Amino acid sequence: MSPRLRHLTTLENLPRPTVERLLDRAEQLRDACAHGTRKLDVLTGRTVLNLFFEPSTRTRTSFELAARRLGADVVNFEIGFSSTSKGEELLDTLHTLEAMHLDAIIVRHKQTGTPDQLVRHAMSGVSVINAGDGNRAHPTQGLLDALTIRQHRPDIENLTVTICGDVRHSRVARSDVHALTALGVKEIRLCGPASLMPAADELAHCHRIDDFDQAIAGADAVIMLRLQKERMETIELPDEAAYFSLYGLDQRRLALAAKGCLVMHPGPINRGIEIASDVADGAQSRILEQVANGVFVRMAVLSEVLAR
Ligand code: NCD
Repeated sequence: MSPRLRHLTTLENLPRPTVERLLDRAEQLRDACAHGTRKLDVLTGRTVLNLFFEPSTRTRTSFELAARRLGADVVNFEIGFSSTSKGEELLDTLHTLEAMHLDAIIVRHKQTGTPDQLVRHAMSGVSVINAGDGNRAHPTQGLLDALTIRQHRPDIENLTVTICGDVRHSRVARSDVHALTALGVKEIRLCGPASLMPAADELAHCHRIDDFDQAIAGADAVIMLRLQKERMETIELPDEAAYFSLYGLDQRRLALAAKGCLVMHPGPINRGIEIASDVADGAQSRILEQVANGVFVRMAVLSEVLAR
């Protein structure tokens, strides 16, 4: 059996059995909840801290629900009111919080590598879970996307998955690629404006296709990404209407994909910019299933890293 994880900062290079174990565990938890269990006592007496240095609604709420449904106590560290806005250094914040005897820290930060920095400097036995660092990794999103795909298409090794939009700034895209690669997906295609593609040596095993009609042709799943303007410095972009006509997902384009192609988006969605409303709300949309799976995946990750 692959060794138990103590932290989860990235999915990069995780062995397939580890990824599969987390997805299987998420499915077991989903089944338990479907049979009416609202609260398990797996983490009774443990304390989990949400430490979010970037705004977040769904990810933070999802982690909080996941921890509570496992019986843990949850504390939210409000950055706006905290000492970091008074200039406190990250590691001082870490050691202060550790002194309060936490079991896990869930961290989101705009700076790439922050979760690993916490892992390196933690003095207690605290587990660190990355909830998104810069454009680098968002491992629980990668897992929940893989779970959503696997649930509909267990034949994952036969699948072609297209990821379209602002790949360059997307930690979701990177973690999706890592999860799907670990599971042996047949082909991953990346599509978007050249200025929003990652450097050529990054994600090098994925196929880059400029034209979205070609990139979506025959795809079994399409993951649309938001333009992450907050992470862009000076990038020339077409206006929103031009962007939508080149890279937006509408019904005409969806018809080019394989029959039953899964339509996915990590949220928040910008209707009419990267995805048409009737596609986001349409029969092939799995967007709300992704949200639902997010809670089960986070329960699975918390129970993995906090298992005694
Ligand atoms: C993503 C993120 O923050 O990286 N959102 C999320 O976790 N639900 C994607 C995004 O912000 O576009």
